[in-house]
Amino acid sequence: MTKDSSNIQKWIEGIPYEIAFWNNVYRWKRPFDGLMKWSHYGNFIELECFNASQFLENQENPLVLDVGAGMSYATGNYINKGGEKTPLDIHYVDPLAPFFNKILKKYKKNLPEIDFGMMEYLSAFYPDHNVDLVIIQNALDHSSNPLKGIYEAVDTLRVGGKLYLNHHPNEAEMEHYKGFHQFNICAENEKLTIWNKSERYDIAELLHVFAEVETATAESGHVIAIITKKSDVPYDLLGDKNDKRVLAEALLQQSFSSFSFAKRLRMSLLYWKYNFIQFVIQGLPWDLRMKIKRLIKQA
Ligand SMILES: C[S@@+](CC[C@H](N)C(=O)[O-])C[C@H]1O[C@@H](n2cnc3c(N)ncnc32)[C@H](O)[C@@H]1O
Repeated sequence: MTKDSSNIQKWIEGIPYEIAFWNNVYRWKRPFDGLMKWSHYGNFIELECFNASQFLENQENPLVLDVGAGMSYATGNYINKGGEKTPLDIHYVDPLAPFFNKILKKYKKNLPEIDFGMMEYLSAFYPDHNVDLVIIQNALDHSSNPLKGIYEAVDTLRVGGKLYLNHHPNEAEMEHYKGFHQFNICAENEKLTIWNKSERYDIAELLHVFAEVETATAESGHVIAIITKKSDVPYDLLGDKNDKRVLAEALLQQSFSSFSFAKRLRMSLLYWKYNFIQFVIQGLPWDLRMKIKRLIKQA
């Protein structure tokens, strides 16, 4: 099995936690209301350290993708055009979309459906090189191959379009490489760096032929990068043929796993374990939840 398809197998193990988390945020009134208060849904687009509204105002019908959107609707879905609050053509994209859309239905939430898409293969979902802005917040480091995710996101952009990244520094280290957390993102000497125990990439260096990378550390401590597309992404970086091999291998590996009763039971138990934990946690007041989180991190 190639490294890419074995990373996909590890990535699949992160799915039960993510679904259990959102299922219980939407189940309980308090966390759901808290989420909606924090998110900019229904308001102007707002991103840390980047005036997205100004950037988009000058485009005819700007197209925006929020990739790895989860169910947070964090970014805001309006821009100011000629003094008018104008709806933005924004697509919320996530590989767990089929599960998330079921959660939306189950709890009868009147929010836009989420589009199915995976950042490592994003150009297959949005092939027209016409996207103005791709936003990836707190999700690049959850993917099985963040470097490919960046190449693919840049490929979907028009020349001059921007990829906006916003991430907690070194999440995989903090989360002990569990679940979706297989990669760290940091601003090493203000250079966007992606790394784990076996790989390390200087993103500006890798992209310099076709994109420009600006990196900053926000007041919140988040690592921000704004990547502007200068020209087409070289075809060999997108590697369609390699993608087919990786996905065919991952598919076969998954079907072998599904023959094993023990493996199916393990995934099912993982989901119900996390669903129970999240049922209890999301039902608690926010302050108490934060205290427990701090205690767990210190332990
Ligand atoms: C922590 S949530 C972040 C949600 C939202 N962006 C935010 O900041 O509130 C991470 C999301 O990334 C998604 N994700 C994981 N791997 C991904 C991939 N390969 N491509 C796109 N999204 C992915 C997960 O399904 C999950 O919904």
